[in-house]
Amino acid sequence: MTDPELRVSKIEDGTVIDHISGGQALNVLAILGIDGSGGVAVSVGINVPSDRLGGKDIVKVEGRELSQNEVDVLSLIAPAATINIIRDFEVAEKHRVSRPGEVTGVLSCPNANCITTEAEPIDSHFEVLGEGVRCRYCDTIIRESIADHISVA
Ligand code: CTP
Ligand code: ZN
Repeated sequence: MTDPELRVSKIEDGTVIDHISGGQALNVLAILGIDGSGGVAVSVGINVPSDRLGGKDIVKVEGRELSQNEVDVLSLIAPAATINIIRDFEVAEKHRVSRPGEVTGVLSCPNANCITTEAEPIDSHFEVLGEGVRCRYCDTIIRESIADHISVA
């Protein structure tokens, strides 16, 4: 197959997350809470050749659109990603992700004593810094490997 776009077949309705930084697709699936259960059809391309990025990942999720929280956290690990909403096999909407000022949920605070990780959890809330994110409740900063702090719901 010579056309790289055809390595993963087109979908009818759902979301194509394109131009994901090479190697980040599995983290994108974690952000979306996709673990193979639940019967959602998902196609994944990892290190697919791309003119713009050298190598990119691509995730196609059938029958589902993404929440703003999911897109916000996604932007932290895949800053060049494009979100394509597909309806009836056509690209109905295309958005570039942008780095948000803050993210709610999806990430969990690494501080075991943080109020957001205690028995009666409240949603996590992080301020987005130039590099990394800072917990609004306990000021813990996650600088590296943000993907390691994706909470599995
Ligand atoms: N796509 C898909 N199913 C469809 C339509 C599009 O899986 N029914 C995928 C394409 O394979 C591509 C992405 O959605 O990976 C965006 O489609 P399109 O805008 O047609 O491609 P490009 O013009 O290459 O996008 P860009 O300019 O964002 O690179
Ligand atoms: Zn905290």
